[in-house]
Amino acid sequence: MSTEFRLLKEFRAGDRVQQAVLLHLQKFGTAVNGKKYARGTVQDNSGAMNFICFNDGVAEEIRNLPNPSVVIAIGQVSRDKYAADGALQMMVEAIQQAGSEVDLSHLIPYTPQNIELYERTLQENIQAIEDHALRQLVAVVLTGDVYKRFVKNPAASKYHHAYIGGLLEHSVDVARLAMAIARETEGIDKDIVMAGALLHDVGKIYEISADVGFSYTETGNLLGHLALGAFVVDRAIAGIPDFPEHQAADLLHILLSHHGSMEKGSPVACATKESFIVHYADELNATLNQFQYREENNGNEWQYNRMLGRQIRLGH
Ligand SMILES: [Fe+2]
Ligand SMILES: [Fe+2]
Repeated sequence: MSTEFRLLKEFRAGDRVQQAVLLHLQKFGTAVNGKKYARGTVQDNSGAMNFICFNDGVAEEIRNLPNPSVVIAIGQVSRDKYAADGALQMMVEAIQQAGSEVDLSHLIPYTPQNIELYERTLQENIQAIEDHALRQLVAVVLTGDVYKRFVKNPAASKYHHAYIGGLLEHSVDVARLAMAIARETEGIDKDIVMAGALLHDVGKIYEISADVGFSYTETGNLLGHLALGAFVVDRAIAGIPDFPEHQAADLLHILLSHHGSMEKGSPVACATKESFIVHYADELNATLNQFQYREENNGNEWQYNRMLGRQIRLGH
């Protein structure tokens, strides 16, 4: 039977499957008949479908994998008789390791935006910083390995801008929004807003891996992207002779306070006008990004959104 490669959304009931998927285990348990089972989701860039595995040994194998894991799933697609909307599920019969020869590009989501255009806008934004020291600092931070990771990394593991290029897109869009607010408000240091907006999430290059699954790194779990970003910027400041101390503090304050308050994970709460502007621009951009996920929604206008914890209307 043919098992040629297709994206998950192209499979129909009855089709055989044998290909790399990102497998998330949600439940491992024992059924009433005493047999072990595993269930959860399999995923690629086209979407996700539930899976169920009733084979004792394979269910155990799945339980012992890191969660999530990239595996070759072997099985059959069927209609999920418990799903009201007739959704499909994958009956997993076996799993295999995905060796280095397996192409995994269908498992790594990419930004829907034009990355080169965003890179150009990023450079224009850096050049638009009038203050020489700040402009030099942002340019020094965003070079070499940091720059390579900055334009590639997702901005999140899930929830918002969780795709390759997401961090660049999010940072440039936050800068755009924050500068629009800064221009319409009296007495704002626009250079600090621009530098802060562009760099606010730079620590995510060390917090979230750009490999399949976009998992949190050990360093990310231990330190978090606010502190990691502050370290990156502080190291760059140390390398610039006579960098003005007040600007260093104002900029680092934005990085460390951009979640708004200590309850939301900031080590310090926003205390300057510029930091509030970056915080609200960041929150608004991450929120509006939630409205992008409409194609996975079976045409329903209203959808529960986990990041926002409520139903939202996706609109047109
Ligand atoms: Fe952040
Ligand atoms: Fe952010």
